[in-house]
Amino acid sequence: MKVLVTGGAGFIGSYTVDLLVEKGYEVRVLDNLEPQVHFNKKPNYLNQRAEYFFGSITKKEDWFKALNNVDAVVHLAAMVGVGQSMYQPVRYLTTNSIGTANMYEVLLEKPEIRKSIRKIVVASSKSIYGEGAYICKVHGVVYPELRKREQLEKKDWEVHCPLCNEYVKPVGITEEKPVQNLSTYALSKYDTERMAVNFGFALKIPTVAFRYFNVYGPRQSLNNPYTGVVAIFSSRIKNKNPPIIFEDGNQLRDFIYVEDIARANLLALESDKEGVYNVGTGKATSILEVAKTLIELFDSKVEPKITGEFRVGDNRHDFADISKIKRELKFEPRYSLKQGLKKFVEWGETQEAIDMFEKAEEERRKYLT
Ligand code: UD1
Repeated sequence: MKVLVTGGAGFIGSYTVDLLVEKGYEVRVLDNLEPQVHFNKKPNYLNQRAEYFFGSITKKEDWFKALNNVDAVVHLAAMVGVGQSMYQPVRYLTTNSIGTANMYEVLLEKPEIRKSIRKIVVASSKSIYGEGAYICKVHGVVYPELRKREQLEKKDWEVHCPLCNEYVKPVGITEEKPVQNLSTYALSKYDTERMAVNFGFALKIPTVAFRYFNVYGPRQSLNNPYTGVVAIFSSRIKNKNPPIIFEDGNQLRDFIYVEDIARANLLALESDKEGVYNVGTGKATSILEVAKTLIELFDSKVEPKITGEFRVGDNRHDFADISKIKRELKFEPRYSLKQGLKKFVEWGETQEAIDMFEKAEEERRKYLT
């Protein structure tokens, strides 16, 4: 079986390629070696047993060549900076939304290519949900809007019930939660997901769209300010600077190790199930705990700095309810946060670390002021 992995030179893509090769699949990669991530160099981890086609999903002719004679597609190529998507909306919609539409146009126009394709897996994101899911003592499960600036200015961090204004408690997000699509990035991922589901139905191609939660692991760009808190904290710690913690540090996220994501991709390829699935661990971890664990693993003496400041646009808590993927795809994450972070830190020790905090903040301010 031959699988096309778009974005196969990237973070999640390269782990997916490694796993597929290990399992005996023939793999072709379509990747543009995005300069913002790869600085025009091929990364040294590229799997030698895969076939590489360096081209762009924004070009239909590149899709045409890449899709020729494949039995399945794992479509991961995308621009991934949430903040950046707010001041470069055309770039995000062109790459993520139109890039995906190009694949479907090729499949619509070329029945001979379409016929051999038995499965398509696409990468969506938990970003589409926006604020998390909560339970109110009186109103049951509720889906509040983002907290307003006036609330955050009072350092009232926790979320209130949209119906009675009492405090609510976070619960795992299920796939039924209505989307909020608060950034251009989220919109573009929702486009990707909906096109995949709609064309999967129309063209009779079994399709899975994965809503990945916060993914971390080795090969994650440490020089790109658009990666998440694990990379940002690590670069701070390596430079002997305290991780800067927004709000009170008790905000929760669901951190999933990249090899678990690659395994979910494989399960989707091998299953006859279709539809949208959360891919997380189902476990909620506070940001302060992430900072403390990283400090311990890096064997550092810095102390996390809780600033009481906040980032406009941040949601308070989010973590996945993974009942659906467990039940239907038999997915179980294998790495605890401690185990995954240990592997991340071992790799991080060997990497040059440019402190990304200031750059990440500067990027955010670009679209917030
Ligand atoms: C993701 C996006 C973020 C967007 C949010 C909205 C990425 C990397 N982040 O954030 O841009 O606003 O979705 O859904 O795509 N934190 C700190 N100190 C730091 C960095 C982060 O305390 O130096 C906190 C944040 O306030 C947040 C948590 O860590 O509470 C996680 O941040 P992040 O890694 O950006 O992920 P998401 O919040 O999931």
